[in-house]
Amino acid sequence: MKPGTLYGVGVGPGDPELITLKAVKVLNQVKVIFAAASSKNEYSLALENAKSHMLNGAEVVRLSFPMTRDQESLEKAWEENARRILAFVQQGKDVAFITIGDPLTYSTFGYIMETIHEMAPEVPVCVIPGVTSYQAATAAAQEIMAAQEQTFCVISGSKGGEQLKEVINKVDCVIMLKVYRHLEEILDTLEELGIKERATLVSRCGMEDQVICKNPEELRGKKVPYLSLMIVKKSKGS
Ligand SMILES: C[S@@+](CC[C@H](N)C(=O)[O-])C[C@H]1O[C@@H](n2cnc3c(N)ncnc32)[C@H](O)[C@@H]1O
Repeated sequence: MKPGTLYGVGVGPGDPELITLKAVKVLNQVKVIFAAASSKNEYSLALENAKSHMLNGAEVVRLSFPMTRDQESLEKAWEENARRILAFVQQGKDVAFITIGDPLTYSTFGYIMETIHEMAPEVPVCVIPGVTSYQAATAAAQEIMAAQEQTFCVISGSKGGEQLKEVINKVDCVIMLKVYRHLEEILDTLEELGIKERATLVSRCGMEDQVICKNPEELRGKKVPYLSLMIVKKSKGS
């Protein structure tokens, strides 16, 4: 039997209107929609973003991924979940795997795609890009990412401020995702580099409780949501 297609669909960062026409079309064509859920709470942010567009009664399957850095457990989860997806695709069904923002930007879909390429190279995979969190956040905060000959880069804050130190003098704007766990340490790094007044923190961008904080120092000692990122400019007003 001819296999169905696996679509990796970016559903945007949080505002349900920031989803592409192509993503909506695919969500209403496929028979099954897979959404990643943390194995702790079974809650899928991507599903929240997409559900108002899912009008054709596709079956929703939540896939559990452990919140761990242990490579062996992660690979086991990618393989198990790739097998669950393949069970549908190999019956000829088109399916979608939805992700917040863009599917190939810090997303579990990237691993699923590579695992499926390896396990079943005959299965067609199609990636529908999504509006990323940092595009939505710079728009909301009205911060220019780059103009003329300027450069910007996107880094992860999941290990604190180390990557920021490495890149801040090389680019004009740094976007740091996953800042929620090590915010205090990242604030220390901004202070150490003497650039704390050039940082903006955006939380839950596009959602009802969106926060844009132009002075992240005031968040010291507080918890910020998982959906938080930091925009850091090299120089003021650039
Ligand atoms: C696993 S990454 C997903 C990135 C996503 N694929 C993208 O294209 O933006 C999760 C991180 O994205 C950022 N993020 C995603 N959505 C966001 C939102 N609505 N507001 C602020 N940050 C967001 C946060 O830094 C969060 O910790």
